[in-house]
Amino acid sequence: MRRLALVVGVMAAAGAARAEPTFYTARVAPILERHCVVCHGAEKQKARLRLDTFEHTLRGAESGVVVRAGDVKGSELYRRITLPRTDEEAMPSDGKPELSADEIKILELWIASGASSTKSLADFPTAPVPKAAAVPVVALTADWRPRAGEIAALEKATGVRLVPRSLVATDGLVLRTASAPSRCDDAALARLAPVSAFIVEAELARTKVTDMGLKTLATWENLRRLDLTCTGVTSAGLAALAPLQRLEGINLTDTAIDDAGVSALKSLPALRRAWLFGTKSADTELVRNEVSK
Ligand code: HEC
Repeated sequence: MRRLALVVGVMAAAGAARAEPTFYTARVAPILERHCVVCHGAEKQKARLRLDTFEHTLRGAESGVVVRAGDVKGSELYRRITLPRTDEEAMPSDGKPELSADEIKILELWIASGASSTKSLADFPTAPVPKAAAVPVVALTADWRPRAGEIAALEKATGVRLVPRSLVATDGLVLRTASAPSRCDDAALARLAPVSAFIVEAELARTKVTDMGLKTLATWENLRRLDLTCTGVTSAGLAALAPLQRLEGINLTDTAIDDAGVSALKSLPALRRAWLFGTKSADTELVRNEVSK
């Protein structure tokens, strides 16, 4: 019984430590931080006004308080952010982006309810919730779709497949050869030059690709993954891959690579993994967690 009581006590303490943030901290301060603190903060204090802490904000400027608790209309801070943008007293000044309607509403509700530093988010059920910043899609390549005709023609001419990596056109293309690897050789890779910047993965296992082909691959600037399993590439050829700044993974299983080749791989800045099973290297795998920049 006693042990149970102790556990409950610890949980209660943890709950208290994770108490809900205040409305000021979670909603008001970030707006002032984003729009105002460059001119009204620790570094610069235009009109001797600081808006970077609760205390400073309530203390006001040289001319007096700018936030009157409970009195939105009488608060200079509110008046300044709701002036027409053409008014020279409008804040933020100097043509800086104006506050959104939601941001103004948040400041309005905060002042109206007493400009508190302790009220919680739950005390403001009608306050707008800031939209989460959209997760930017990182483009791995340019959009290949405008070149679809050319890509199809090259597939036909070389006998390889260039398959979209995902539904996102800027995720690039995967070069596939598995249905007929023996048809893919150094010459086929060379012919893909016009569209090579779209290729992020090249599956070349069991193809006729040699060190000559590696020189071509070295110009495929967006290549992230390269499978050379069971090909004729050698350690001497691997050095040519040095320009591949984005290459993250390379499979060299069952090739003639030895330790000289592995040390060439170590200069590739983004490389995290190399599969070396069945090679002459002492390692069967190269794994790097930290990528040097
Ligand atoms: C680019 C700099 C800049 C930014 C950003 C800026 N201000 Fe100002 N602010 C000034 C200057 C300069 C003054 C003094 C001149 C004036 O009163 O218009 C001033 C004055 C003020 C005053 C009047 C203080 C007084 O004397 O009563 C308030 C209130 C104010 N700013 C609020 C804000 C708020 C709120 C923000 C963010 C939404 C903001 N400012 C962003 C430059 C800036």
